[in-house]
Amino acid sequence: MMKRISLLEMAHDIVGSYLKPGDIAVDATLGNGHDTLFLARSVAAEGHVYGFDIQRQALIKTYQRLLEHDLQRRVTLCLASHADMLNHLPQQYNGRIAAAMFNLGYLPGADKTVITQIDSTLLALNAACSLLAPRAVMTVLAYPGHAGGDLEAEQLLAWSQRLDSACFRSEVILSNHDKPTAPRLFVIRKQADLL
Ligand SMILES: C[S@@+](CC[C@H](N)C(=O)[O-])C[C@H]1O[C@@H](n2cnc3c(N)ncnc32)[C@H](O)[C@@H]1O
Repeated sequence: MMKRISLLEMAHDIVGSYLKPGDIAVDATLGNGHDTLFLARSVAAEGHVYGFDIQRQALIKTYQRLLEHDLQRRVTLCLASHADMLNHLPQQYNGRIAAAMFNLGYLPGADKTVITQIDSTLLALNAACSLLAPRAVMTVLAYPGHAGGDLEAEQLLAWSQRLDSACFRSEVILSNHDKPTAPRLFVIRKQADLL
């Protein structure tokens, strides 16, 4: 029987294939900390993860999850919008980030009206593009099924199609349940030969 893997697992597989010990990574939406834990494991003790969320609850959840695995020292948690990530990452990491993950929408188990907003999402994506190293990757998991998420996914697609193809390759992976409301995964790869 064919195994169904979720878009989240696919995002982890793709990002995991890029990360190695010592890398720097960004989790643009901490939420409950699942992606941060995955990134912290992948970059190992020599690496570091910078994580962002606008809800204190997300930082607490993520910190607790990291504590359970004694990985809290590998992560800097920022109570800030991902749109401001350039102000929070040390300048020396500009152009040196190996991977960035965005998991859009709302914090599961919390207020569903606090969702990512396309304007700040696009600012953050552009910031992340400039932070990425050559041969690095960014994943964006979008959920058109909730109010506001449909417009966000639509504008995200338009944004990805406008990316300079000399620098970036982008693809959209649809879920098995191919409905307009089903989640979709954007994968943006920065090209290696940019000099
Ligand atoms: C689907 S959840 C993320 C799931 C998370 N990556 C995980 O592994 O559990 C989306 C998160 O985005 C956060 N968010 C919304 N707007 C944001 C912004 N401008 N900057 C950073 N995080 C934001 C929400 O507070 C929420 O926690």
